[in-house]
Amino acid sequence: MGQRIAISGASGFVGRALIAHLERSGHEVLRLVRGSASEPHGVRWQPDTGELDGRALGAVDAVVHLAGENVAGGRWTPARRAAIAASRGPTTERLARSLARLPVPPRTLISASATGIYGDCGDARLDERTPPGQGFLAEVAQAWEAATQPAASAGIRVVHLRIGMVLDQSGGALARMLLPFRLGLGGRLGSGQQWVSWIHRQDLVAAIAFLLGQESLRGPVLAVAPEPVTNREFTRALGRALRRPAVLPVPAFALRLLFGAMADELLLSSQRATPRALLTAGFQFAHPNLAEAFAAALAPGARTA
Ligand SMILES: NC(=O)c1ccc[n+]([C@@H]2O[C@H](COP(=O)([O-])OP(=O)(O)OC[C@H]3O[C@@H](n4cnc5c(N)ncnc54)[C@H](OP(=O)(O)O)[C@@H]3O)[C@@H](O)[C@H]2O)c1
Repeated sequence: MGQRIAISGASGFVGRALIAHLERSGHEVLRLVRGSASEPHGVRWQPDTGELDGRALGAVDAVVHLAGENVAGGRWTPARRAAIAASRGPTTERLARSLARLPVPPRTLISASATGIYGDCGDARLDERTPPGQGFLAEVAQAWEAATQPAASAGIRVVHLRIGMVLDQSGGALARMLLPFRLGLGGRLGSGQQWVSWIHRQDLVAAIAFLLGQESLRGPVLAVAPEPVTNREFTRALGRALRRPAVLPVPAFALRLLFGAMADELLLSSQRATPRALLTAGFQFAHPNLAEAFAAALAPGARTA
């Protein structure tokens, strides 16, 4: 049966595709809109205070919380670090409190997190049982997950979705890589030995829809494809998919010069994660293999949102 679902970060790269997927599947979707909400299906929400228009929201079955300052949106100046952190832990805690106070709280809160929570882990295999690591992103993600506690204390089922690199040509990391790769300027980053935990955007939104119906699943859930690859393999596969050479490595020092600390934590950091919880629960990936995922994501008629 269709559920009534509210989504924060609805206008983002994941939110847009999620809304399209849920609406196609017969769910009713409400968008949590920052500031004054005048759009249809929009519910006003103030991240800075946590104020939520409970009357417009009504009774929802679930909330999917995707909102947050874009992590790759620019060099990590002190101001950007502050904005990234403030829009995760504190914002999530205020939202969790507001949800807990609703006359009829939602049954489920699926709250975004990231594989960055593990820090830089080299070749170690990671799953939901692996403890968090160190670094700016790892700390932000830990605070982000901990911030949902008011919702859990109110009896709401909370899922922490530890998302890997989301692939689709219409946004995110892949959209940023396409131009240099198409110009034949693609190449491995640093040594290329760092592991990339990726997921096709269509599998991510299908996994979120699947989790909405898994009443017994809670806590951390990795949203990554079952086959992580090294950056070297990722680079080769993208070059092949675009039929372009991808042989110009970008040295680590150049990445650090260009991107500062963001280079080490986003581009050179290694996470070899497997989606244990999703696979155990029986979720079936439509795009488990990277070469095939690139082919699907880059096909001229690929669905974009
Ligand atoms: N894309 C990835 O590869 C990836 C990987 C790991 C984790 N994630 C996480 O998954 C979530 C969704 O990712 P995405 O790629 O869709 O991100 P996105 O495209 O940057 O969208 C995030 C949305 O959050 C809202 N937002 C922006 N700044 C905000 C702020 N300061 N305070 C509150 N809300 C703000 C905006 O939506 P509204 O204007 O509609 O409010 C924005 O469209 C994010 O939290 C992201 O960190 C993404």
